[in-house]
Amino acid sequence: MSGDADIVTETLERVAARVDDPMKLVFDRLFAEMPEVEALFVRDKGGLVRGQMFQVTMESLLDFLGDRTYGANLVQIERVNHQGLGVEPEMFDRFYVTVMATFKDIMGSDWTPEMEAVWTRVIGELTGLAA
Ligand code: HEM
Repeated sequence: MSGDADIVTETLERVAARVDDPMKLVFDRLFAEMPEVEALFVRDKGGLVRGQMFQVTMESLLDFLGDRTYGANLVQIERVNHQGLGVEPEMFDRFYVTVMATFKDIMGSDWTPEMEAVWTRVIGELTGLAA
């Protein structure tokens, strides 16, 4: 599975080389897709919570592909915790799809079939979604 982790890491590096703040684009897209969730972040004025959430999303994905020490469990626990915030499991899982779609847009024609295959498979495994 190290090949998958390499592809995901390469995607992250290439995305970061193209745009200063990929996270902002991910959240812009999320709020465009699900306007109702933007209000949940009203108290997050400086974006610290969003930053932490994005970071944990990516770290747990990489762990899931690598050592598998905590990634899948953490995601399961957060999926349940988020229901308490009003984020239904389907919405929670959609976040990964939004991240992938944002990265795909940023990469444009440099998004490779290999990236498409790996991201789709990983998101599917982690969330049970067919991305
Ligand atoms: C559409 C999907 C999602 C929505 C709307 C959402 C919403 C939120 C909100 C509103 C908070 C702040 C909670 C608070 O005020 O205490 C939060 C925190 C957090 N979310 Fe999400 N979430 C989503 C998906 C995810 C995913 C996929 C992960 C990955 C594991 C995740 C991980 C976290 C973590 C770790 C925090 C805590 C950040 C902190 O307070 O330091 N979330 N989320």
